[in-house]
Amino acid sequence: MAPSNRDKYSVLLPTYNERENLPIIVWLLVRSFKQSGYDYEVIIIDDGSPDGTLEVAQELERIYGSDKIVLRPRPRKLGLGTAYVHGMKHATGNYIIIMDADLSHHPKFIPEFIEKQKEKSYDIISGTRYVGSGGVYGWDFRRKLISRTANFIAQFLLRPGASDLTGSFRLYKKSVLQKLVDSCVSKGYVFQMEMLVRANQLGFTLGEVPITFVDRVYGESKLGGSEIVQYVKGLLYLFATT
Ligand code: GDD
Ligand code: MN
Repeated sequence: MAPSNRDKYSVLLPTYNERENLPIIVWLLVRSFKQSGYDYEVIIIDDGSPDGTLEVAQELERIYGSDKIVLRPRPRKLGLGTAYVHGMKHATGNYIIIMDADLSHHPKFIPEFIEKQKEKSYDIISGTRYVGSGGVYGWDFRRKLISRTANFIAQFLLRPGASDLTGSFRLYKKSVLQKLVDSCVSKGYVFQMEMLVRANQLGFTLGEVPITFVDRVYGESKLGGSEIVQYVKGLLYLFATT
């Protein structure tokens, strides 16, 4: 299948200590896009990882070329939400794909996102773990409970019309993402949720694709107690103001 249009997909990969994962995710991305034939670039936003992720990224840039692998590092850990905003500023595609770099999100779902988007020219496609064949693998009970609870409370308070609010494997029209970013107030993990809540308010259309989320093998999650507190604060703020 040869895509006939000029669409280009900018994949934003935020990294913090992902030295082991980055070469694999980039290889999978490149392979997936070569197979599907869609035009793409991968933008890596590293936040001064002490493990040397940036050096690995530079090596990948040499291997695959600087038109495909674009490095937009920041000097220190400034948070996931602002990493996306930073990456987006440099994106040359008319579509933006946001995903984790730790192999929890598999690039094999990207062609499904793209096809789903084209079905009804959706503004946003969200990968969902909570519909159909979607699911989570490798999380312990605690982590599953946190995710379910976070989703449940958000659903209950905000009724956003999306099944997976805290997931972060998504495709956006760039112009839509820009508008959403301008209307969002949160900075950390709660950002993902706020984006869909605002999208719903602003009347953007949403398509969902079931995905499997597989817990990382290398490295560790940056989601700690303080992020959870931030999430709850952000949620209550949204509830109070929207
Ligand atoms: N640049 C940058 N700066 N990258 C970051 C930062 C940061 O401050 N914090 C995390 N990252 C990167 C990680 O390197 C990884 O690629 C991605 O963001 C997700 O971080 P993880 O630490 O692996 O998140 P998680 O697995 O606990 O959480 C995932 O699931 C959550 C809920 O289901 C993520 O997808 C979250 O976005 C999601 O809310
Ligand atoms: Mn992860």
